Amino acid sequence: MQADIVTIFPDYFAPLDLSLIGKARAAGLVDWRVHDLRAWTHDRHRTVDDTPYGGGAGMVMKPEPWGEAFDAVLGRADAPPTLVVPTPSGEPFRQATAHEFAALPHLLFACGRYEGIDARVVEHARTRMPVREVSLGDYVLNGGEVAVLAILEAVVRLLPGVVGNPASLVEESHSVAGAGWLEYPVYTKPLSWRGLDVPPVLLSGHHGQVAAWRAEQSLERTRARRPDLLPDTPPAAEIGDAELA
Ligand code: ADE
Repeated sequence: MQADIVTIFPDYFAPLDLSLIGKARAAGLVDWRVHDLRAWTHDRHRTVDDTPYGGGAGMVMKPEPWGEAFDAVLGRADAPPTLVVPTPSGEPFRQATAHEFAALPHLLFACGRYEGIDARVVEHARTRMPVREVSLGDYVLNGGEVAVLAILEAVVRLLPGVVGNPASLVEESHSVAGAGWLEYPVYTKPLSWRGLDVPPVLLSGHHGQVAAWRAEQSLERTRARRPDLLPDTPPAAEIGDAELA
């Protein structure tokens, strides 16, 4: 997989070379190039923003440098990449989205800052490549850089050969292969720590009982923390109550 990242803060992406993602790059499983958007400005101050038409607070990113940046990346590519624009007004970025992105050969990330990028940039980009505007969650970051770091980590670890034991991708929270429930609690040695013991079922050596306990814990956690992930059927107890009424 190839990733191109356009940003006014290239230094944000130095940590990508650490840990698993850096190892994946060294192994030739992924490569990325970080581009400074200001390279495509032509004034003395290397201006990338201006005041918003219609008034209002803050500044908007000018379209021209973005257009030239995309021209340069497209000019070097055999086929158009998929443009990924992190924005709080995008579709939710989920594990399923990470899997979709992991299947693509080339991603181009556009990191917005200030009040966002002039809307014509995405409108024009849609005429030349697939575009995905994605949100990490219902909160506002100062720019797209931190979102791109998170997206890349979520995507690159799904590439074949990046995570040593692929089974660990199956059981984790939000796994597309699993039920989409949150992951069960995990324990390691020592058996007893500060008065807290590892649940005895995990010591039983009985795989069926361990699996059943974990499924129950996953479901309980999901109900308590993320009921939105469960189908719309009410819990069994409620069905019982309704039938009694
Ligand atoms: N940029 C600013 N806020 C963001 C968010 N919540 N998700 C993705 N990109 C963003």
